[in-house]
Amino acid sequence: MNYVGEIVGVGSFIPPKAVTNFDLEKLLNTSDEWIQQRTGIVKRHWVEKNVSTSDLAYEASLEAIKNAGIDKSEIDMIIFATLSPDHDFPGTGCFLQDKLEIPGITVLDIRQQCSGFIYGLSIADKFIRTGDHKNILLVGAEIHSKGLDKTPEGRDVSVLFGDGAGAVVISRREKTSDDQSQIISTALHADGSYAKELWLPGPGNAFEDDRCTLAMIEEGLHYPKMNGRNVFIHAVKRMAETLTTTLKKNNVTIDDVDLFLFHQANIRINEKVAEVMGIPAEKIFNTIHDYGNTTAATIPIGMSDALKAGKLKKGMTVGMAAFGSGFTWASGLLKY
Ligand code: UT7
Repeated sequence: MNYVGEIVGVGSFIPPKAVTNFDLEKLLNTSDEWIQQRTGIVKRHWVEKNVSTSDLAYEASLEAIKNAGIDKSEIDMIIFATLSPDHDFPGTGCFLQDKLEIPGITVLDIRQQCSGFIYGLSIADKFIRTGDHKNILLVGAEIHSKGLDKTPEGRDVSVLFGDGAGAVVISRREKTSDDQSQIISTALHADGSYAKELWLPGPGNAFEDDRCTLAMIEEGLHYPKMNGRNVFIHAVKRMAETLTTTLKKNNVTIDDVDLFLFHQANIRINEKVAEVMGIPAEKIFNTIHDYGNTTAATIPIGMSDALKAGKLKKGMTVGMAAFGSGFTWASGLLKY
């Protein structure tokens, strides 16, 4: 039997507290004008103190499962993509599984940062195509706000990131035609020689002594570090490259694609990718102005918002691309 994976339910959850650029002006020696001009971000959402990454994921998952029209007991695998876990271990997928009360099924956490959702989609597709699994819950969820340097020293990174979660249910379907709704193709890449261009140094076992020390915290090694300009250049190059390859491999032209869902790190990155590839602006669904960069949650949040806005409809051909820490980058093509 030949199987394909179809996205049958999508959900998202954005924490209610909006943090505007003007709010950040009070903390970070930044300005609304700088943030909007350089990134496109107008606001992002940050969680209240008592909320965890798996809490956000839980809300997004419930919505995705409801929209899939199945019972949560029919889920037989969770794939959880995050760089901001509830705890170092176990993986946040286990905390989510406990909240969903679906013990015994397969749970897999993945660590591919901004490319995490497309990596997860590719993994889910493979588990489905083998016939092993039937209904996979793929979640991307992040709480950045608890880990950012909220002093002027951290402004280059801290203005960019927001909290949120997005989830999809991918179900196994018998393959009947090339035109049916399905994940068509994915491509996954990484280059670890750039690992320190965007990273969180501590705590970690690469340190000489204890993995977490007071000195490390005093040095601010527990805050993300980024070489923004280099990340920007590579993001444009790699997103355009992988997406072009995926389209060509499947004999699909830009005209054939109805909607592009790109990772949302900087509006200027997406504009450049569009320029390089000749994609009309109206085919790209951007959310960065509202949420900032929500890393692994970005693409499923975009999918959820696009559906709610009537921009994504059953039968549409969707192209996806993402780039982030690692460096990792990925692209995907699906018939929604
Ligand atoms: O999710 C995937 C990973 N992330 C990305 O893809 C992000 C990629 N990089 C970027 O989006 C951009 O590089 C940034 C938005 C991070 C920075 O924009 P930029 O145009 O590359 O700015 P820059 O780093 O070259 O800095 C320009 C100036 C500097 O001042 P001087 O040296 O020209 O006086 C910075 O100190 O802007 C200053 N600056 C700020 N000013 C106000 C940096 N951050 C801020 C800030 N507010 N938040």
